[in-house]
Amino acid sequence: MKRDDLIHPTVSGNKWRKLKEYIRIAQDNPKKGIISFGGAYSNHLYALAFVCYKLKIPCIGIIRGEELNASSNAYLTQIEAWGMILHFVDRSNYREKIIPNQIQKEDYWIIPEGGYSKEGIMGLKDLVNEIHASLKPDYLLSAVGTGTTILGLAQYSNLDTIGILCLNNEEEIKNHILEQELILPKLQLNKEYVFGKYASKPPELLEFCQFFQDQFQIPIEPTYTGKMMFGIFDMLKKKYFPAGSTLVCLHTGGIK
Ligand SMILES: Cc1ncc(COP(=O)(O)O)c(C=O)c1O
Repeated sequence: MKRDDLIHPTVSGNKWRKLKEYIRIAQDNPKKGIISFGGAYSNHLYALAFVCYKLKIPCIGIIRGEELNASSNAYLTQIEAWGMILHFVDRSNYREKIIPNQIQKEDYWIIPEGGYSKEGIMGLKDLVNEIHASLKPDYLLSAVGTGTTILGLAQYSNLDTIGILCLNNEEEIKNHILEQELILPKLQLNKEYVFGKYASKPPELLEFCQFFQDQFQIPIEPTYTGKMMFGIFDMLKKKYFPAGSTLVCLHTGGIK
C-alpha cells in the first residue's frame, strides 16, 4: 500500500498530489489567488484552505448550499478560520459552477471541483516516480471519485491500472479521458464496489474497514479507500490477479 495518507495530517493523500501544480502556479504568479468548489465536507477545500493559509495565498471557496454558513459544521468553521473566503450558493448555480458576481474572476486561478483538471492529473507524476523508485508493480489500484488520480496513475505509469469506482460515474470518467485526450489502454474501471451510491456505508463495508484497521493498523475510511480495499480483497478471493503479481494500492487519505 502506498501510504499517501501519511504525506501530511491535513493535506493528505491525493489532495496534495492534485493541488501541487496549482500551488506552484500560484506561487510563480503571486498577484492571483485561488478559487475552488466543494460541498460542506469537502476534503479538497479543507486541504486547499490549509495550504493557502500556510503559503499566504488568497483563496475563495464556493460551497454548495445557500442555506449553510461557516458555523454549519466544524470543517467549514475551520476552513474559514484559515482565511478562505466562503460563498454559499444554491444548488443550480453550484452545478453550473457560476462564480458570484462580486468576485473578480481575473484575480484568481480556478481549480475545478475535486481538483479534476490537466494540472491535477500532472500532480500524479511524482507519485508514479516514487513507486517506480522502490517497486516493480504489475498493477496499480486506486479509488475513483473525479478520476483525476487514476488517470494520472494510468498515464504516467503505463502499467495495468485498476480504478475502483466509489460512485456511479463511469460515463463521466470516460468523458474525462476523451476531454484530456488520453490514450489509456491499460486502464480498467471497476464498478462492482460502489455499494449503491457515493458515501454509502453498509454494515459489510464498515465491518471490513474495521477488520482492515485491526489487521494492518492502517486506518481506512469507507467512502474511498475502504471501497477500494474491499474490492481488492474480493478480487483476490476470486483469483482475479495471476499468482505472484505485485499490486500497489494507493491510500488516498481522507481520514481527518
Ligand atoms: C480520500 C479520497 N480518496 C480518493 C478520492 C478520489 O480521487 P479522484 O477524485 O482523484 O478520483 C477522493 C476525492 O477526491 C478522496 O477524497
